[in-house]
Formats: sequence, structure tokens, C-alpha cells
Amino acid sequence: MSTDIYPMRLQKFLARAGAASRRGSEELMSAGRVTVNGCVVTELGSKVDPLHDVICLDGRPLRLGDDSVCLMLNKPAGYLTTMDDPQGRPTVRELIPAVEHPGLFPVGRLDFDTTGLLLFMTDGELAHRLLHPSHHVSKRYRAVVAGRLSEAEAEQLRQGVLLKDGPTQPAGVEIGESSARALSPRARHTLPAAAAEQTTVWCTIREGRKRQVRRMFAHIGHEVLELEREAFGPLQLGGLPSGQWRYLEQAEIQALHQAAG
Ligand code: URA
Repeated sequence: MSTDIYPMRLQKFLARAGAASRRGSEELMSAGRVTVNGCVVTELGSKVDPLHDVICLDGRPLRLGDDSVCLMLNKPAGYLTTMDDPQGRPTVRELIPAVEHPGLFPVGRLDFDTTGLLLFMTDGELAHRLLHPSHHVSKRYRAVVAGRLSEAEAEQLRQGVLLKDGPTQPAGVEIGESSARALSPRARHTLPAAAAEQTTVWCTIREGRKRQVRRMFAHIGHEVLELEREAFGPLQLGGLPSGQWRYLEQAEIQALHQAAG
């Protein structure tokens, strides 16, 4: 590990060690939960030298594992999953600390209108293993689809359907509630009665083909109205607000390594 970045700000160290986000780390310090060489440090500008100082959270020592960085973003709709768009459209780069960590890239992609858990890392080898189809890393989506989804239709997706780029592998499908769609009076008259409803469905797949979930539902006659990724392998989006990111904790990074085989 190079020493030219030291000393570094304590809240940056805490975030890089996976204790919390930068803001969360400041809160940990203000709450008196962080010690440096046995002394509680609450002053936000304080600097530490991770090579020589002993930094503890709630009495437990923290370390920087290596220089690699892993974080998750709750992607809002309306952003492209790319670090650079020649046409100048909004990209996820604007939402993450890309200047601070120039090597970060998204692991896989979410469509422009898809929301939810998008992972970023600097470790190309881990990303490659997570995305490789042979490792079958699961992705769980919450979809809101037009119409009422029947058990028979869900069963087709569970078994696998034939898309134009080949058959899909068996998927996990759980049907949630159906409700009336919020439609304009005009749409209510023009749409068939069956499309005036919508159904929430949880769908877990272990592949990552382009627009796969949308195409699977289209295949059985249901347009996807909303799509959110709630989980990626062992990682859960949890309560992370839309548009916000956080560093992964050390245990989460270990779980990712395990999931990637
Ligand atoms: N499947 C889709 O159809 N879109 C996504 O963004 C992710 C999975």
C-alpha cells in the first residue's frame, strides 16, 4: 500500500475501512465511538496515519484491507449505467465519488428506467467473476407489471421461456398484490380492461442478459411498468435512499468473494 496518501482525514479512513459512509462516519465520530491510539476523537478535521495509528470503532480495531473500493448505489430512474456518455445524457458517474476513486466502474448494468442496487468496484477480477454466468450470482427484482399475473404465467417464467437470444434459465417468481392502475380517464377507456390492473412480482434470475426481466414479462404478455433491483447476490439494497451510495462493509465484500466462487 502506498504511503503518499497519509496522513488522511479520520472520517475518510472510517469510510474506506467500511465503517459507514463518509457522512455516517462523521456521525460515529461525533457520537464518541471512535478512538485513535486509545483517545476518543470527535473533531471532524482530525488526521490519522493508518500505518502507525490504532483506530477503533466501539473498541474494535479497523484496518484498510487494500486499496480496492466497493460501493453500492441506489440508482434512480433517468440515469445511464455508464461512466461516460458522448451524448451528454445523465450517467451514474454523477452520483458516485468518481473523482476520489477514478478506477470505479459499474458491475453489470441497469436500464435507464430501472432503479435500485447497482454495485461499483475497482477490482476488475472480482467484477468479472461476479458477472460470469458460470457463478450463477442471483439478482432479485421487484417488478410492477401491467395486468393481473396468473400462477400459470409465473410458472412459465419459473421453468424458463424462449427469448430471441435463447432459453432463460429457471427463475424464482413470487406474485404479490394486484391493484388498480392510476390511469388517465382517456387511457381507462382505450386500454383493455385486463390492463387497467397492475401486479407486483418478485423475480430472481441468475443470468444478466440485456433487458432480460422486461423481455421475460413481455414474452408472457405483461409490460413492466416499474423495475427495481432489491438484491445482488448476498447484498441487499435495504433502506438506502434513492440517489445515495454507501461503501460496502468488510463482511459484505467477503460475502461477494464467496458468491463469486
Ligand atoms: N432486467 C431488465 O430488463 N432490466 C434491467 O435493468 C435489469 C434486469
